[in-house]
Amino acid sequence: MGELRGTHVPVLLERCLELLAPALGRNRRTVHVDATLGLAGHAEAVLEAHPNTVLIGLDRDTEALAHARVRLARFADRIHLEHAVYDELPDVLHRLGYPAIDGVLFDLGVSSLQLDAPDRGFAYAQDAPLDMRMDQTRGVTAEEVVNTYSHPELARVLRVYGEEKFAGKIASAILRERERAPITSSARLAELVRESIPAPARRTGGHPAKRTFQALRIEVNRELAALETALPAALDNLAVGGRVVVLSYHSLEDRLTKQALADRVRSKGPVDLPVELPGSGPTFRLLSRGAELPGEAEVAANPRAASVRLRAAERLDPEAARQGRTDRERYRRRVKAMHQPGTGSPGSGSDPRSTPGDGNGTDEEGEGI
Ligand SMILES: C[S@@+](CC[C@H](N)C(=O)[O-])C[C@H]1O[C@@H](n2cnc3c(N)ncnc32)[C@H](O)[C@@H]1O
Repeated sequence: MGELRGTHVPVLLERCLELLAPALGRNRRTVHVDATLGLAGHAEAVLEAHPNTVLIGLDRDTEALAHARVRLARFADRIHLEHAVYDELPDVLHRLGYPAIDGVLFDLGVSSLQLDAPDRGFAYAQDAPLDMRMDQTRGVTAEEVVNTYSHPELARVLRVYGEEKFAGKIASAILRERERAPITSSARLAELVRESIPAPARRTGGHPAKRTFQALRIEVNRELAALETALPAALDNLAVGGRVVVLSYHSLEDRLTKQALADRVRSKGPVDLPVELPGSGPTFRLLSRGAELPGEAEVAANPRAASVRLRAAERLDPEAARQGRTDRERYRRRVKAMHQPGTGSPGSGSDPRSTPGDGNGTDEEGEGI
C-alpha cells in the first residue's frame, strides 16, 4: 500500500467520541458500526478509546478500505471491514452474526482521498475522466449521466442536489456540447459550467462548477436513496442505550436525518393519556438540540468541517419511555395548575422550563429537532 493521497482530518472527532462513549464504554463487549469508514480516522479513535469494542467498518470504496485496513492493522482481532453500501448493513450484521449494535456513525459524503485523487473525477480543479463513482466496481459513471440524461433529468439533478440556480442553462449547454462530441473530462465539464453561468454570478459562491460536481456525485452514487434506507435500518439494529451519530454536509442529507430521528423521538399515543400505550412511546431520545455546528477553531483548522451538521440520538428502554410519559404528564398538570387562578404562581413551584428527565440539555420530546 502506497502513501495516502489525501489526509483526512476526522470531523467533530471529540464530540463524536463524547456522544458514543456511554454506549460503547459499557461493562461488556460492545459493537460499533462505522458506516462510512473512509480513512478510518473516527474508527481508529473509537477503537483506541474502547478496548472492549468490536468495529464493523463499511465503505463502498475499495481503495478507502485498503487504506483503512493498514491503519487499523493493530486492531485486527476486533475489526470487520466490509465492502458494502451502508444500506446493506442489516445483511452484513446478519452474515457476521451480530443481532444488535451499540454505536453507529455516519460521516457522509466523500473523503479527501476521493476528492484529492487526480484520476477519480470528483474534483473540478483537476482534469480526469468523469467517473465520480465511490465504488469503482459497479454503477453508472458521471460521464454516462452527463451524456445520456434528458434535459429535464439533468436540470432536476443540478437544481435539487446542487441547489444550482442556473440548472436549466447548464443542462442546455451540456446537451449542445454533447451533440458535437461526448463530454468525457472533468476539466471540459467545469469549463462548460463556467461559460453557462452569467459573469456576475461567477464571482460569488466559490468555483462555478462546485454545485454541478456535487450534484452529479450525489446522483452517480445514489447517496440520498441509500441514506433514506440505511438510517432507519441502523436505528432498528441499535440495542437499548445504543447511540447513533450522523455528520451531514448537505441540507438534504441533514433533512433525511432529522426526519428519521423525528419519527422515533415522538410519542405516537394520544396526547392526553397519562401513560404510554404499549408500542406507542418514543423509541429514541435526541442527544443534540437541533443540528450542532462546528466551532470556529475547528473550521479554521479543517475547512471540510465548515458545512457539517451533527445530529445524535439514543435508543430508549421502553419502560423508561413509559415512565418519561408519566413524568411529562405530571409536569403538564403542574404547569396547567400554575396558570389557573388561585393555584399559585410561576414563581411558587419548581421551574417549569426545565423538562423532566432532561438532565443533559437534550430534547426528550423532539421539539428541538
Ligand atoms: C467523509 S468520508 C469518511 C471519513 C472517515 N470518517 C474518517 O475519519 O476517515 C466518507 C466515506 O464514506 C464512504 N461512503 C459514502 N457513501 C457511502 C455509502 N452509501 N455506503 C458506504 N460507504 C459510503 C465514502 O466512500 C468515503 O470513504
